Amino acid sequence: MPGAFYITTPIYYVNDVPHLGHAYTTIAADALARYHRMRGDDVRFLTGTDEHGQKIERAAAEKGVTPQQFVDQVSETFRSLPAVLACEPNDFIRTTEARHKKVVHELWEKCRANGFISEGTYAGLYCVGCEAYYTEKELEAKDGAFFCPIHKTKVEKVEEPSFFFDLDKLEGQLLELYEKNPKFIQPESRRNEVISFVKGGLQKLSLSRTSFKWGISVPGADKHVVYVWFDALTNYLSALENAADRAKYWPESVHLIGKDILRFHAIYWPAFLMAAGIPVPKQVFAHGWLNVNGHKMSKSLRNTVEPKKLVEVFTADVVRFYLLREVAFGLDGDFSHEQLFARYKADLADNLGNLLNRSLGLCAKLRPASGGGTLTAVDGPLETKLADVARSSLATVIGAWDEIAPHKALEAALALGRAGNKYIDEAAPWNEGKKGEEGRVRVDTILATALETLRWIATMLWPVMPSVSDRIHEQLGLAKLAPTPSGKSGADLWQLIWSPSWDAAKLPVGTPIFPKIEPDRQAAILKELGVDAALAEANAATPAAAASPDGTKGAPAPKKSKEIAPPAAEITYEEFSRLDLRIGLVVSGERVPKSDKLLKLMVDLGESSPRQIVAGIGKSFAPEALVGQQVVVVANLKPAKLMGLESRGMIFAASGEAGESDLALLMPGKPRAPGTRVK
Ligand code: MSP
Repeated sequence: MPGAFYITTPIYYVNDVPHLGHAYTTIAADALARYHRMRGDDVRFLTGTDEHGQKIERAAAEKGVTPQQFVDQVSETFRSLPAVLACEPNDFIRTTEARHKKVVHELWEKCRANGFISEGTYAGLYCVGCEAYYTEKELEAKDGAFFCPIHKTKVEKVEEPSFFFDLDKLEGQLLELYEKNPKFIQPESRRNEVISFVKGGLQKLSLSRTSFKWGISVPGADKHVVYVWFDALTNYLSALENAADRAKYWPESVHLIGKDILRFHAIYWPAFLMAAGIPVPKQVFAHGWLNVNGHKMSKSLRNTVEPKKLVEVFTADVVRFYLLREVAFGLDGDFSHEQLFARYKADLADNLGNLLNRSLGLCAKLRPASGGGTLTAVDGPLETKLADVARSSLATVIGAWDEIAPHKALEAALALGRAGNKYIDEAAPWNEGKKGEEGRVRVDTILATALETLRWIATMLWPVMPSVSDRIHEQLGLAKLAPTPSGKSGADLWQLIWSPSWDAAKLPVGTPIFPKIEPDRQAAILKELGVDAALAEANAATPAAAASPDGTKGAPAPKKSKEIAPPAAEITYEEFSRLDLRIGLVVSGERVPKSDKLLKLMVDLGESSPRQIVAGIGKSFAPEALVGQQVVVVANLKPAKLMGLESRGMIFAASGEAGESDLALLMPGKPRAPGTRVK
């Protein structure tokens, strides 16, 4: 049944110009919005800019302009970004707009009327970079001063009159919310993090500032400006300014955010709403951090990737595909130009592009349009097998989008591409043409089946690669998909029926969609992007701590543990070489029932079928977040049974301070073919 679906990105701080990290969230939100439009849902997709606070006030002062001039200018660079990325939000909200200020005041008044806001004095530590209050315990201490764990800058001592929000009163209600709605915070590992934070006890929150001016004034207390996170979070409601929209889309909202701002969204935001008596959103989904060539993206490393430049070279569809395919959504991931070329070649040129080009080429050669008639399939075993793969891929794609796992959805579409190519190899239409009437029936069957496979793939790709999908439809002589526009509910385009039948007079023609990129061209592109110089500099710097289970911005490398055990007794090289270590690709995963620790994973080691490995890593990772990840596996470990399940191998992981709930998986620095030996 189609329904209302409200998807939001965080609103971006305007102290910085947009980079690939911002683009990543917006692209993921757009792809999800498109998936729902295809389902016939009435979708509202919101993005915008966060323009108040001390950070922005200071950035404007540094530029020598007024805050208003400054935000007007930078906000425009964010407003134009979605179109560059083939994203189609329905609204762009700015926190300096009147419609927003009005709702911030309303929310404040409701919280106050319900007894959650009181007056006092705040004395404590504040990081302007995070726009967040910190306790000493949460900071890094050096020479008697305290430093932000994220920005590494000295935090500021603040003492000023302030209004307070009684966050502590809502501890029980928040825990009940997480308990009763297990999907409220996703992925699972992030949910556990928030629950343990709240169980650790919540304190009153300073809800206004008096030592600077750039913000929304507190109703009835002009000296105070509203705390910038209370202001910013309210954007999700203020964009639904008319009553009909509010009734339709709230609380049907999914807030897509980066893991760095989870606490604000999963604790503060529902708490403000509860205090005001407003329903809480349906879900907060925190994705991981995107690093560049293994390094944290930062201005000082000169490695921030500019989305516009990348799109000019690769097209928006390819950039969207790469980001959503490469990173298991929810986990940290890495952007590398080298890997972008590798994915382009393997997934797009050699798999999808190849299937499209050879199918069109075979049509032109074996069944030219002038031949007329209808091209229908008379199914044999190969066709039945392929149709089964198509149906199961489609089910996987739909399931993956429902759980916000774009990487899995894309993998399923690519699996159908691989099956389609294999089908053509096995069916060998070039041999059938020589076998008279029977051969002609086979040729028609094979071509119709190949084209039908492409129609299905083009449908599956639309959320991520809308233009590519349109072009494939066009090359197949079909109308483009027309998903439901916002404000309406419509047909479910995911209900595909396998019907390989084509009018031979309209047989497809086309030019390659994914032309090969030769090494010369690749080098020229890298030069055009200015990658060589910046890359060398970035690589010389300290690598980022990629997977940071604590969910904080930029994740600094953890300190050395005090109790490092001495090395175990020496072994010889011969003894070591008896270990068979391999690269494995996690193809699916689920929790083992009744265990909070064990995950049942299917891992591709390049063998005829994936192996089942039962791994004790479930306190740190949600199974769905592992799919598509490469891991290091002990391949020759004697099979063992764990809770009745056979496990054929072991995955390497290193524990952090919090032991089993803070594991880091060992992963290759660059993707490797499954089964590659590790020595
Ligand atoms: N203004 C706040 C959000 C308020 S929402 C009510 C904010 N803005 S931000 O511009 O600093 O970051 C916004 C989002 O950009 C992050 O949550 C994250 O989703 C995304 N990213 C910025 N850099 C990123 C990476 N390097 N990698 C992935 N996403 C990152 O926080």
